[in-house]
Amino acid sequence: MMYLTQDKMRHLSIKSLLLLLIITCQKNNLSEGNSTYLPRMTFTDKEIAFRRLRFHGHHTGILTVQEEQPDIVTAAGQRHLHSFDFQNHGKTVGRDVLWKECAGSGAISGACNYNITVLHKRNEANQLFLCGTNNEDTTCCNMNISEPSSPCTSSKDIVKIKSSIKEFSIKQGEPSVLIERGGHSELYITHSGAQDCVGIHKFGENRVEPASQRKEQQYVGLVLSRQRDDPLQDKLYAFYKEKNTDFGMDSDMWLPFVSQVCMADKGGSKSYRQFMWTSQLNARLYCGGRDRRQHYSELVDVAAAHADQWQHTRVYALFRNEWGMSAVCVYTIQDIEKIFRHSSFKGHSTKIPSPRPGTCVEDSTKLSFDVLKVVEDNSEMVDRVLPLNDTGPLLVSHHHYTHICIDSFYNKRNQSHTVLFLSLENGRIHKVMEDKSQAFFISEYRPFNHRAHIVSMVLHSSSRKLYVSSSSELVQLDVGSCAGYGARCEECNLARDPYCSWNGTHCSPDTQETETLQDVVEENHTECPEENAFEKVSTSLSVGGKKESMEHITVPLRAKYFLQCPMSSHHAEYTWHHPNNLTSCSPTEQQCLVLIDSMGPDQEGTYRCVSSEKGYNRTIALFHLQLDRSAAGQASSPLTWVYLMAVVLAQGTSVIAIQ
Ligand SMILES: *[C@@H]1O[C@H](CO)[C@@H](O)[C@H](O)[C@H]1NC(C)=O
Ligand SMILES: *[C@@H]1O[C@H](CO)[C@@H](O)[C@H](O)[C@H]1NC(C)=O
Ligand SMILES: *[C@@H]1O[C@H](CO)[C@@H](O)[C@H](O)[C@H]1NC(C)=O
Ligand SMILES: *[C@@H]1O[C@H](CO)[C@@H](O)[C@H](O)[C@H]1NC(C)=O
Ligand SMILES: *[C@@H]1O[C@H](CO)[C@@H](O)[C@H](O)[C@H]1NC(C)=O
Ligand SMILES: *[C@@H]1O[C@H](CO)[C@@H](O)[C@H](O)[C@H]1NC(C)=O
Ligand SMILES: *[C@@H]1O[C@H](CO)[C@@H](O)[C@H](O)[C@H]1NC(C)=O
Ligand SMILES: *[C@@H]1O[C@H](CO)[C@@H](O)[C@H](O)[C@H]1NC(C)=O
Ligand SMILES: *[C@@H]1O[C@H](CO)[C@@H](O)[C@H](O)[C@H]1NC(C)=O
Repeated sequence: MMYLTQDKMRHLSIKSLLLLLIITCQKNNLSEGNSTYLPRMTFTDKEIAFRRLRFHGHHTGILTVQEEQPDIVTAAGQRHLHSFDFQNHGKTVGRDVLWKECAGSGAISGACNYNITVLHKRNEANQLFLCGTNNEDTTCCNMNISEPSSPCTSSKDIVKIKSSIKEFSIKQGEPSVLIERGGHSELYITHSGAQDCVGIHKFGENRVEPASQRKEQQYVGLVLSRQRDDPLQDKLYAFYKEKNTDFGMDSDMWLPFVSQVCMADKGGSKSYRQFMWTSQLNARLYCGGRDRRQHYSELVDVAAAHADQWQHTRVYALFRNEWGMSAVCVYTIQDIEKIFRHSSFKGHSTKIPSPRPGTCVEDSTKLSFDVLKVVEDNSEMVDRVLPLNDTGPLLVSHHHYTHICIDSFYNKRNQSHTVLFLSLENGRIHKVMEDKSQAFFISEYRPFNHRAHIVSMVLHSSSRKLYVSSSSELVQLDVGSCAGYGARCEECNLARDPYCSWNGTHCSPDTQETETLQDVVEENHTECPEENAFEKVSTSLSVGGKKESMEHITVPLRAKYFLQCPMSSHHAEYTWHHPNNLTSCSPTEQQCLVLIDSMGPDQEGTYRCVSSEKGYNRTIALFHLQLDRSAAGQASSPLTWVYLMAVVLAQGTSVIAIQ
């Protein structure tokens, strides 16, 4: 029989605690390996106020933000529209969609049970375009959301869309684009799956559809390329993944593709490919390392950063591979265009007819049989589209990302910046800065209090508001908020957030008019004004310094202690300097503690936690432990655990003791 002495018990608990810590650290190390890929900061409800509103009823995942009123979001339910006003105490207005088809007898027969499947802002303020699909047909209309109960009406420009889309069944969640061109508008929408009608569809003045094919395709995004010198060359690019029909051992389940169609395309002649695309060409995308050993083939989502010159517009594509890794690759429209203009056609060996298949022409119904035959039989390009400058992925991660949003802008010093927002499977968001084809993980936002599945994510760039929705909640994130990075110039610069800069007293939004300091690319914190001696590091253990407030703690003999260092940056190294010893914590650890197994005279003294990041060192916690000599001799209870938590000195040190 074995007795556990009090000492052994204490030892055991300390051991199991250490074990727990080791397990946490290892888990973290395994999933990250390298702190470069850890978001530098974590923002929860404690650091940032997220504004959350609940959905009543079903949410389809369709969201739009009014350009002029960035705090008002319209979300589509199955049959209703809900407007959420984040400014006005979260006032929510629900609206039934009054389809014209439902007036009178339609409503009674139940034929008007339209589910909302498309929602777009129109150019005119407060006007929305929406489509609904039921078991039989599809209808589209316009709504004026500044009127409390306006019917969904037709307008002259959408008459042709309405008539051509009637028989078409829109699937929930398909990408679509509304083009408003004076008298007649056009709607481009994809159809995913493995049926006959899979592909890109155009409705409006000209109805153009894909030729039937036996391929399974899932569409993830449409990107418009307009404002070319010659508007005839305006194109639409569709990004999708296609089920691989090669079932070899090493073959991937999905292959990533981009398709082009000319916006001027009206379909072929009466005798051949009438109303079918005459300009559609497809090219494989490649995302992976330059050595071609590791690659990513399952396309998940795309987002475009439009440039003043169409050639320089970039498409950020989010991929996954079968090992659960994610990657983002960047493609330019110029590179995509080059492949479609110059690559040879797969399976076509004879002379390429003129005009080259895929060239946009004034009247596609007059294209020769030879040209259309190549489009029909050999629409895939031999060459693949490679990432920008063939640099490989912009980022690679063990995380499972689900959506991507891009903000590309010039700051007030006219420097160009790109910020990426990536949603995770568990409801969190990573904010990443692109820096010379390298990714810098600025922060992780945790907008939900629980694990949540994000169904959509929309960015309103000019107000720097990101909206994310789960099936039950809509959250507004102020991604331009800068106060969370710290109260010092160095901390502000180390954050490398292109939305923020130091205005002399605060880390504040870069939109302010005052002269500010910031160099997010070089991360040059030495540009900050000299601070007093306390701010500069003093690793000596002497007590002193006016601002250096130290917590004095008296501890009973043989008691156990924890001292915790507040870790805010996951890119910093933290070191506890304590009597005759040092304890270092790596950035991947979640806590930085000093454990005192048993308080004694040797443990008396000053405990200082110093953070060190890119050469900037700072004391962030300071304690003085003293033995409680009055209590000497009394054995402390083994169950008495004192847990001390230091809070950043500048905010006043506080100690929490839990017994
Ligand atoms: C982390 O990864 C980056 C990029 O691959 C590399 O440059 C850096 O040296 C790595 N750091 C460590 C500590 O392994
Ligand atoms: C409408 O949406 C609901 C809920 O998503 C679904 O169950 C129903 O089948 C849809 N109806 C049609 C006609 O698509
Ligand atoms: C939308 O409604 C507002 C308020 O009633 C009105 O001022 C505006 O003219 C309407 N817009 C259109 C296009 O009908
Ligand atoms: C890509 O290459 C061009 C010219 O070779 C260069 O000017 C540009 O900086 C490169 N871009 C990146 C992101 O490396
Ligand atoms: C900003 O920089 C771009 C090139 O980087 C230049 O073309 C443009 O004129 C600049 N704008 C201003 C307002 O300086
Ligand atoms: C700096 O920013 C803070 C907060 O954003 C603001 O209160 C303060 O007035 C600004 N100071 C200057 C000099 O603009
Ligand atoms: C940072 O800025 C300081 C002052 O402007 C300058 O002397 C130093 O060379 C810069 N360091 C780097 C790495 O750019
Ligand atoms: C310093 O601490 C480590 C573990 O925290 C311990 O193994 C070592 O013996 C200590 N060294 C001294 C001189 O106390
Ligand atoms: C800052 O801290 C690091 C790690 O503790 C140390 O190597 C470095 O010498 C310190 N730098 C200064 C200027 O004290």
